Amino acid sequence: MPKWLDDAVFYEIYPQSFYDANGDGIGDFEGVIQKLDYINDLGCNALWLNPCFDSPFKDAGYDVRDYKKTAPRYGTNEDLRRLFTEAHKRNMHVLLDLVAGHTSEEHPWFLESRKERPNEYWNRYIWTDNWFTWGADGVRFISGEAPRNASYIINFFKCQPALNYGFLNPKEPWQQPADHPDALATREALKDIMRFWLDAGADGFRVDMADSLVKLDDDRKTGTSAVWKDIRAMLDARYPEAALVSEWSNPPLALNAGFHMDFLLDHAGSGYRSLVRDYRLDADMRPFDDNSFFKKDGRGDIRRFLDQYLPWYERASRIGHISLITGNHDTGRISGNLSNRELALAYALFFTLPGVPFLYYGDEIGMRYLYIPTKEGGYTRTGSRTPMQWNKSKNLGFSTAEPDKLYLPVDPGADAPTVEEQHNDPHSLLNTVKALLNLRRAEPDLQSKPNLEILYAEKQRLPFVYRRGNLVLAVNPSAVDAHAALPLTGTPVYAIGSCSLTQGSCRMDAQSFGVWRL
Ligand code: GLC
Ligand code: CA
Repeated sequence: MPKWLDDAVFYEIYPQSFYDANGDGIGDFEGVIQKLDYINDLGCNALWLNPCFDSPFKDAGYDVRDYKKTAPRYGTNEDLRRLFTEAHKRNMHVLLDLVAGHTSEEHPWFLESRKERPNEYWNRYIWTDNWFTWGADGVRFISGEAPRNASYIINFFKCQPALNYGFLNPKEPWQQPADHPDALATREALKDIMRFWLDAGADGFRVDMADSLVKLDDDRKTGTSAVWKDIRAMLDARYPEAALVSEWSNPPLALNAGFHMDFLLDHAGSGYRSLVRDYRLDADMRPFDDNSFFKKDGRGDIRRFLDQYLPWYERASRIGHISLITGNHDTGRISGNLSNRELALAYALFFTLPGVPFLYYGDEIGMRYLYIPTKEGGYTRTGSRTPMQWNKSKNLGFSTAEPDKLYLPVDPGADAPTVEEQHNDPHSLLNTVKALLNLRRAEPDLQSKPNLEILYAEKQRLPFVYRRGNLVLAVNPSAVDAHAALPLTGTPVYAIGSCSLTQGSCRMDAQSFGVWRL
């Protein structure tokens, strides 16, 4: 387990939209370098960069054409290396995004694989034995797009053919087992890409669709897990400080497969949803019928989260970390359904539970979801990918380019939140995030380690009270005061709103959060 994860807090950067240092309208590596001090000062000591490799950008870079070459719009490989160096100087770490399960249809491997005659890359992807053969449970096929007399499997969009890691239980002659030399060659190619960037100074990877590798896998993901265990063995032997976080959202499976961290995503059943995303969306992506725990009138109940989280925590927290997210490039921004006070309380929980939290750029100021047309395969996700809002100058300080040259438009609202404004307001969301992350940095009991104890978490009752080492924490998201009988007394360490923990009772005003030392 990499030691640096003990107190890591990640900041996710969508490189297109963070900071444009050369004025061409799109974010770049140099822009990230210039903002490292901002991120560090915020209290985040690690970065996850969304894919920044050569790509036709039909899925915002999740369609990689060359894994070993950065996309020129962000800069050169040398610029990315400089970003690693600058981050390391500040004691920060950088994860790249590893799209392990598929490539772009323009990747040279696929251009070979689709040819009529067999060649070295013919089985780098999964092809049937005939153009007229397609259809299998849980996988999608494309036919009629290549000279090769066969159909191929995709993982996501049509532009993303699935790499061949084999099948758990091959049923058809064209399905290879996971230990077939061709499937093993794919795995070795992936390891080679990982070594390339680790040797260049990357500190690890966020793995895209990590559970998707071996096809027709079982519920326990036996086949895919075996691949990751093999990769983890390589890391342990050669790169023991490299970290892997999975897009999987099943910590017991993902961490047993060798990941160091696994995200809780907004999928049904992750528990995370009930905290901040328990709404329905209308056709325009506008949230309604919101019952999230952190809504002040949401009739929320922490058990909905804990009943799913705790069994996972029990099974997984000794082998790795659960990662809670404020959001990501695929989700709507929760500022759309939660007020700044509600956001502050939600972040307070995310940043003080065990594990390694991830903050999506802009969530620290409550950046809004914008209702704008799709870009690069984003569809409804596009509105969460708009330029970072630094200050009230041109393009909200993101870029000096003309507004019509921007990768995506900036928030046009006169009240668009910005870093500069919130920096100067001691009660802003930005300063609350800073205070929370400072607290976490100062208190080892609040960092990644699995020392969680539940003190008060009753169905349909508030507050929620928990303990971590020598600290007691409580949150009351509702509009009414709440108290719990607890035989404890603590000295206040930090609070949002007013609350107390004195002999016999934890008293919480409406919408408050407190931390006490026993
Ligand atoms: C993951 C990414 C998403 C991408 C998809 C296909 O879910 O987070 O943005 O579109 O995989 O690679
Ligand atoms: Ca640029």
